[in-house]
Amino acid sequence: MIEPNNIYLGDSRVLLDELADDSIDCVISDIPYGIGVDYWDVLHDNSNSALLGASPAQVKAGKVFKSRGKPLNGWSEADKQIPQAYYNWCRSWTDKLFRVVKPGASLLVFAGRRLAHRAVCAFEDSGFIFKDMLAWDKEKSAHRAQHLSKIYERRGDFISANKWSGWKVGNLRPLFEPIMWLMKPYKLGGTIADNVLQYGLGAYNENVVSIYGQSPNNIVNFSATKGDTGLHPTQKPLNLMKYLVELVSIEGQVVLDPFVGSGSTLLACKELDRRFIGFECNEDFFATALQRVDAARFVKRKMNTVVEEQYLF
Ligand SMILES: C[S@@+](CC[C@H](N)C(=O)[O-])C[C@H]1O[C@@H](n2cnc3c(N)ncnc32)[C@H](O)[C@@H]1O
Repeated sequence: MIEPNNIYLGDSRVLLDELADDSIDCVISDIPYGIGVDYWDVLHDNSNSALLGASPAQVKAGKVFKSRGKPLNGWSEADKQIPQAYYNWCRSWTDKLFRVVKPGASLLVFAGRRLAHRAVCAFEDSGFIFKDMLAWDKEKSAHRAQHLSKIYERRGDFISANKWSGWKVGNLRPLFEPIMWLMKPYKLGGTIADNVLQYGLGAYNENVVSIYGQSPNNIVNFSATKGDTGLHPTQKPLNLMKYLVELVSIEGQVVLDPFVGSGSTLLACKELDRRFIGFECNEDFFATALQRVDAARFVKRKMNTVVEEQYLF
């Protein structure tokens, strides 16, 4: 039986079946984006794509191409299946999630800009309400967009290079990431205010907005600070996760993260006296998360021996 304040190694699609109905107060998770960031982010069986086999051109391009994934060019039927495959993958756990969360529970879910809409459809089709989409303003981000003129110059076509000077192929700098806000509908016949009284869920805490130096709107500004990088390729800033945790939960409630990574959500929960349950299928990330969350307990223990008891696994 799954107990709060633990991290479990395994596939969340299997582990979710072990949770009781209506046992989770909220879900805060950074799910795989399905864009081939890394091998764990490849959620389709398109064997022509960089991370699941490679064309000769991809092999020749080596590491850069591999880590970037294959460009989207629209001609490949296999590529066109990727969004549907991502939807199917999300749907393989959103139904299960619906069963385990309480009425009025908030789900704050990071997803990639390109496929977030497919994840939203999966949540909706499982019964959740799509409440809003927050924009996490990262303040900094890497940007790759090639100057068209440089390509033509390399070809020796200086007329086209001149004509297309200033134009780029690619996207504008990706400075925001969407955070989807979903909610399990509250019980038929009641109001949201009744639901808050019965389950402690359905509202958000505006008092925390100023504590984190934020504005009371749906754009959240957090940049990575010390300790926020190096543990996972998509590690999220701890303060951002703490803000989200405080926005939709109260002390003692159970927060589930089915895609733990290095454990940023869980660490935030621990520091804020929320109970947490985490699932991670990768052994290395699982070990990192365990170590990180456990180390936080150790710091607290040194500060105050009474607090320690609340944190025993
Ligand atoms: C986007 S990352 C989370 C990173 C996290 N926000 C952090 O700060 O470190 C998603 C994680 O989900 C894990 N994952 C992918 N599929 C999974 C599954 N079916 N069950 C459990 N974990 C899974 C991956 O191994 C990856 O570490």
